[in-house]
Amino acid sequence: MSKNIFAPVRVGLLGIGTVGTGVYTVLERNQEEIVRRAGRGIELTVVADLDVERASRLVGPSVKVVGDARAVIADPQVDIVIELIGGYGVARQLVLEAIAAGKHVVTANKALLAVHGTEIFAAASSRGVMVAFEAAVAGGIPIIKALREGLTANRIEWIAGIINGTTNFILSEMRSKGLGFDAVLKEAQRLGYAEADPTFDIEGVDAAHKVTLMSAIAFGIPVQFDKAHIEGITRLEAQDIRYAEQLGYRIKLLGITKRAVGGIELRVHPALVPAKRLIANVEGAMNAVVVQGDAVGTTLYYGKGAGSEPTASAVIADLVDVARLHTVDPLNRVPHLAFQPGAMSALPVLPMGEVCTSYYLRLRVADEAGVLARVTGLLAEAGISIDAVLQREADEVGGEGSNQTDLIILTHDCPEQHMNGAMAKMQALPSVLAPITRIRKEELA
Ligand code: HSE
Repeated sequence: MSKNIFAPVRVGLLGIGTVGTGVYTVLERNQEEIVRRAGRGIELTVVADLDVERASRLVGPSVKVVGDARAVIADPQVDIVIELIGGYGVARQLVLEAIAAGKHVVTANKALLAVHGTEIFAAASSRGVMVAFEAAVAGGIPIIKALREGLTANRIEWIAGIINGTTNFILSEMRSKGLGFDAVLKEAQRLGYAEADPTFDIEGVDAAHKVTLMSAIAFGIPVQFDKAHIEGITRLEAQDIRYAEQLGYRIKLLGITKRAVGGIELRVHPALVPAKRLIANVEGAMNAVVVQGDAVGTTLYYGKGAGSEPTASAVIADLVDVARLHTVDPLNRVPHLAFQPGAMSALPVLPMGEVCTSYYLRLRVADEAGVLARVTGLLAEAGISIDAVLQREADEVGGEGSNQTDLIILTHDCPEQHMNGAMAKMQALPSVLAPITRIRKEELA
């Protein structure tokens, strides 16, 4: 190896929790490899954490520990600030202050960038510093690098990802053990997958933050979390997971972004996926992202979307990138959102009514003559074509002598507003006895 002639880059870390500890550990363990790759050392010199005593125990005497994050930002020795505080509040302020102080920033904070990315990337560009965020999407999977650089020749057509491990764990358990949502959520919390307050995970918000970032990079549009359609998994019922399986599908919480006629789709919701697709077989807390490019075709990225060292892997990859590029003319660096800031697209994010997809419908109906004809008639009237129909025997659904049954219908693609209209009419039929369940279906072909 040629002699390392460059001084190490010096790093300040804001917040040493699970991921921060992983960053420290992996940097220590793999320093020699990292230096050979980066061409210089990467030195963690200062850590800020509210619990100074605990942080000092974690990093030992060679790293300075302070209680005030602003002392890290003000430290002239620090070249790169890693923000691992999370949230939109103090983290936003500190990131903007670090940028203003001329520091490069590495962050795992998807919420911050999905909501305030436009402001933060603009500030970084005008100050000539980098904001790197590989760890913000799908933890250890290098999906940002793949989208921004590896697939740069492509016109990206769509991305569909399982990008929240907690919900994928819950759905996997519901399917394999036939349990209800509430029981599995408790188990996920006991195992430490779900947070004590798992709202962002189970309501789809965390996945929406991540798909918002991927959408911006894939299509060269600004980050627009406020335009994302978000549905979580809290209303999913075990019986729909069962019926989907009988029809050859699995239900996954997907983050989807797609180039469509007139705009970009940006949505998170549970979806039926054909069981034969690789992504349908991603189980437990794992993440996976499918990207369709016009030149490359379909590509799939799989791995751990959370955890100490997997996320640290992404943070350190960003540190190496910054270490390699921080002396380069800012105009020659890879743009934050893959496209040159002056070449962003004004394509709108489409309202959900204009999104075209196919559907799974479950209707609890009276088991009497003409019901199926009336229901399918309303779909035909709305121009919605049926792909498959499954009707259970009434006894199987409601017990011996029951006069109710479940009617399950899979449709072909149609605009969501057509489906909304047809559903309102179906719901009004006297023989439809309960609120209709509607789950979108994605063939991902
Ligand atoms: N809570 C997330 C998940 C990990 O369950 O995947 C961090 O984004």
